[in-house]
Amino acid sequence: MEIIVAPSLLSCDFSRLKEEVETVEAAGADWIHLDVMDGHFVPNITFGPGLVEAVRRCTKLPLDVHLMIDNPDDYLERFIQAGADWLTIHQEIAPHLHRTLARIRELGVKAGVSVNPSTPFSTVIPVMEMADLLLIMTVNPGFGGQKFIPSVLAKIREARAHIESRKLNTKIEVDGGIGPETSPLVKEAGAEVLVAGASIFKSGDYRKTIEQIRGSKP
Ligand code: DX5
Ligand code: ZN
Repeated sequence: MEIIVAPSLLSCDFSRLKEEVETVEAAGADWIHLDVMDGHFVPNITFGPGLVEAVRRCTKLPLDVHLMIDNPDDYLERFIQAGADWLTIHQEIAPHLHRTLARIRELGVKAGVSVNPSTPFSTVIPVMEMADLLLIMTVNPGFGGQKFIPSVLAKIREARAHIESRKLNTKIEVDGGIGPETSPLVKEAGAEVLVAGASIFKSGDYRKTIEQIRGSKP
């Protein structure tokens, strides 16, 4: 399984956004992860489609947009128009998950569903066929630089076994507290897409950190 490293811009220097995106791309990033927060679903506010569109103009890499907002259905089109290639919504805030995931696909991009650390994998089993991506949060969403929650590893294993047994194409992504120390654990458990914010952007050497996170194949 090819590991995909997706730096989260949440921890970049926004006063130098273009340079940060270009530097992390040159350093080997596979995707760019964008955290959209509204101050309701999570206790933090970040940015909206305008910034996603600005990042779209800085890179050709796939944009992986992680929506942590109330009423995600009202904003799907806007984020897709802004340039999202992957659009992920949270199980906890999407009452009609099946319909929303189908809508994202209809709009022509890849659909992702995310579960918080306290949300069981079983809650998304009914929609797994609709999901191109399963984002398993390894911290409580809201902030960069938090500590990895090891109890989530069991959920990653459970999801990997389910995906293999049904021969689904869903990719497992992890997000939160991922760096050179924790990446071997999540890869071993079955994660394929590794989001990392602070560990990359707070390091002096983006290339080295991305290489360490990607590591050797599990
Ligand atoms: C957290 C966000 C993450 C965040 C990860 O709510 O979804 O994408 O940027 O940051 P680190 O890698 O610093 O834990
Ligand atoms: Zn995220």
